[in-house]
Amino acid sequence: MGDIAEIEIQELRLPATPDGDDASEFREVCQALDAVVLDTWGNLDRAPTPRSRLGDWRPTDNSTLSVFVARDRAGVAGVAFCYAALRDNLDSAWLRVEVPPQRRRRGIGSALLARVEECAAGYGRHIFQSSTEHPEGFASSKLLFPVTGAGGVPESAPGAAFALRHGYRLEQTTRFSVLDLKENQDWSDAEAEAQRIAGSDYEVLTWTDQCPAELLDQMAAIMGRMSTDSPAGGLEIEAERWDAARVREVEATAREQGQIGLTAVARHRRSGELAAYTTIYVDPEKPWVADQDDTLVMRRHRGHRLGMLIKIANLRRLRERFPAVERVMTFNAEENEHMLAINVTLGFRPAGYDGEWQKRTI
Ligand SMILES: CC(C)(COP(=O)(O)OP(=O)(O)OC[C@H]1O[C@@H](n2cnc3c(N)ncnc32)[C@H](O)[C@@H]1OP(=O)(O)O)[C@@H](O)C(=O)NCCC(=O)NCCS
Repeated sequence: MGDIAEIEIQELRLPATPDGDDASEFREVCQALDAVVLDTWGNLDRAPTPRSRLGDWRPTDNSTLSVFVARDRAGVAGVAFCYAALRDNLDSAWLRVEVPPQRRRRGIGSALLARVEECAAGYGRHIFQSSTEHPEGFASSKLLFPVTGAGGVPESAPGAAFALRHGYRLEQTTRFSVLDLKENQDWSDAEAEAQRIAGSDYEVLTWTDQCPAELLDQMAAIMGRMSTDSPAGGLEIEAERWDAARVREVEATAREQGQIGLTAVARHRRSGELAAYTTIYVDPEKPWVADQDDTLVMRRHRGHRLGMLIKIANLRRLRERFPAVERVMTFNAEENEHMLAINVTLGFRPAGYDGEWQKRTI
């Protein structure tokens, strides 16, 4: 162990189920990935369960993901991913390399990165994007700032040093925030104000897992806006192509992952238009933590406190239906002032920052 020459890199074949006879290597990969999360964050809140990972890694009509595993004689020495969208963003690929702490600084990460960059090039991609994770508490470090100027990440942290060494540029910083539900969160003032400002023009509708058929086309339109309306910093991200089938595919993937999706929307009563949506995911295999996923208000319906209104409606459902949830996690671009202001009012507190990186090969 220890010599890069002894490392062998192969593509992982996905098992039929996360715990079947053919899943032993997959489980080993999950343990290596968990070790990286634990080392970075000190807990496994951000580590998906094996079932969730497997559902997420399967190909769909819209994307494909290749997983590469580096092995040495002692077992899994590193894991890398190459994600490529298939209907839009055809110039870019999202890459990620993870090496367990005891195996670092031996060139394994670099060998894996070369492999996933080659995979991306094989898909005809020339814009490579990636992310690094940085828990709170690095204020005294030398910081690197993205083009937006908002938020920075420590230049000497392993992921950042590695990304810089390989020619990637920091293009954006994402704030990772956590809402502690064990503290008695009181949203009643914010909710009353949001209700007053939204007035009677809007109604809030909610569902679990499956969007009602009559709202599907509108959901596709509003979900597609996430790729154009949420700030991307210096990352090159094209508009995604969405239709009803893509919404159903997201739901099917979540189901396969074992996730329960709570959605709340605001509908403009007079026009019947969907004005805003938000989704929280809960994984019953990780009952202590939930994930506040996308939230978006359509441009022409902004300024009516709809973001706050639907988020509180959804958080109330979460608390009622899943009382074991202690924490809710969320991610927002550091320059996304309006969304961050809502989250801070709701009680979310910064827990760390993710660096979003990009490298162009042409
Ligand atoms: C980043 C990561 C993949 C690096 O894996 P690794 O196997 O240690 O990487 P390598 O040994 O190939 O390092 C290559 C170069 O990157 C730089 N580097 C890597 N880790 C570094 C660190 N902790 N401090 C300073 N420089 C570092 C160095 O220039 C290093 O070359 P050197 O060892 O000859 O000085 C690993 O630390 C990790 O899994 N971190 C958590 C996940 C992550 O941030 N992934 C990166 C996003 S793609």
